Amino acid sequence: MFTESMMESIKKVEATRAARMATEPRRMTAEEKSELLKQYHPDYRAEGFAEIKIGPNKGEKAPVELTNLLHSNSRLLNEKINLDNPAYDVDVLVIGGGGAGASAAIEAHEAGANVMIVTKLRIGDANTMMAEGGIQAADKPNDSPVQHYLDAFGGGHFAARPELLRRLVMEAPDAIRWLNKLGVMFDKDEEGTMVTTHGGGTSRKRMHACKDYSGAEIMRTVRDEVLNRQIPVVEFTSAVELIKDDKGQVAGAVLLNMETGDYLVAKAKTVVIATGGAGRLHYQGFPTSNHYGATADGLILGYRAGAPLLYQDTIQYHPTGVAYPSQLFGALVTEKVRSIGAMLVNKDGEAYAHPLETRDVSASAIIRECANGKGVETPLGSGVWLDTPMIEILHGEGTIEKRIPAMLRMYLNYGIDMRKVPILVYPTLHYQNGGLEIGGEGFTKAIPNLLVAGEAVGGIHGRNRLMGNSLLDIIVFGRNAGKAAAAKAKEVTLGKMNLDHVQAYAKELENAGLNEQGVSPLLLPKYARHEK
Ligand code: FUM
Repeated sequence: MFTESMMESIKKVEATRAARMATEPRRMTAEEKSELLKQYHPDYRAEGFAEIKIGPNKGEKAPVELTNLLHSNSRLLNEKINLDNPAYDVDVLVIGGGGAGASAAIEAHEAGANVMIVTKLRIGDANTMMAEGGIQAADKPNDSPVQHYLDAFGGGHFAARPELLRRLVMEAPDAIRWLNKLGVMFDKDEEGTMVTTHGGGTSRKRMHACKDYSGAEIMRTVRDEVLNRQIPVVEFTSAVELIKDDKGQVAGAVLLNMETGDYLVAKAKTVVIATGGAGRLHYQGFPTSNHYGATADGLILGYRAGAPLLYQDTIQYHPTGVAYPSQLFGALVTEKVRSIGAMLVNKDGEAYAHPLETRDVSASAIIRECANGKGVETPLGSGVWLDTPMIEILHGEGTIEKRIPAMLRMYLNYGIDMRKVPILVYPTLHYQNGGLEIGGEGFTKAIPNLLVAGEAVGGIHGRNRLMGNSLLDIIVFGRNAGKAAAAKAKEVTLGKMNLDHVQAYAKELENAGLNEQGVSPLLLPKYARHEK
């Protein structure tokens, strides 16, 4: 399975294992981290970013691929959309069928609202489903939300919006109780106490998990709840533009039936954008751990309607994407592999950094090792070792199968037994730290009655997110958005619906000389090869 040079390097990893296990690598100082990030983190590569020329964030930077979409026109520019005869008329329209969207819909339904989910693929086709390692909550006696706040605030470079982060950590224990009650099968010990571990940058063991398919288990549960409640879910249908009314309030969305190509109008008193991430835009050519539909659609819808972005220039590269075998390139190797004992090791068998530095630091250190010839060559580039056999030396035989069975199976499918040999990893595009700006209640500040939840929000985590705080934010902010949207819908009277902002945006593009950029939102990634 491994090449000759990989086998030679594995011998060095094995030869240094006992000594490495006797002395854990030290943590980097703040100065060392800052220098490392500047030199190696992709967020610092100027060529990966472009200036936004129009809209609320004009003059700021965003990844080139996102900027191109922001500089694109609406699909509806030359379409005649009859807004007077909506196909759907609801209190709360939730755009997106992942964990945040499902949680919002459940709470809106619980509050008595007439709520509907629209999703461009199927409910559950989302980054939530792909999440592996766990969900943070400070619910053990040696921990507290304050401690959780400090870890996340520091890990996010002190840039998180305090009102958002405060909610995240304060409402985390209740999020776990809610999920547990709905039926999520969390890992528990013989007494029924939830098992918790560390993640990168955590000062307490507060990662709750369902083996290494925590997101799939959470998504399974919230999806079942949506279906059991018979909340309408319109699948294979994309929101392509928000609709506003003559008072400037959001008033629904224009939907595209992905199978027939027909446009439909959904009228709504409140709208929740829960469209998830952007991994499938493959910023700077990185592979991604994200699901097929992660194309930043909600950011485009919100921005074109006038909602500002926050921290759109900061992206999370998960340190451990699969570097080899090539068939799995970019797939997620959960941080839990390091939480339960595996070290990161370069081609000479050196543990060059602590395994649980925060993600931006850890990813940068891997990129540095590879750039300096300390990586192991692979058919698609290079990578470093994650010394997985250490896990069973530390915790006993059977630990890998018990704690990270999905990882074990994924590699066994390609003839690699991670219990016996280390695995090769390299950073993969994992998460957008930025997104649409919201206040503590989940509403955008610029567009009345428009809410955002989940990965489409910017500011909860600052400029880097800790493991397990994303599954948490989709639940906390999803639930809150659903409750707030249902309550607000009771007071809303809609005026005359219009798409004037679409025309105004087109004019701005034209004035900026940007009328040749194609259309957005992208909806589905572009993988087809176009012969010249
Ligand atoms: O490594 C992981 O399991 C990913 C978790 C996360 O992004 O929170």
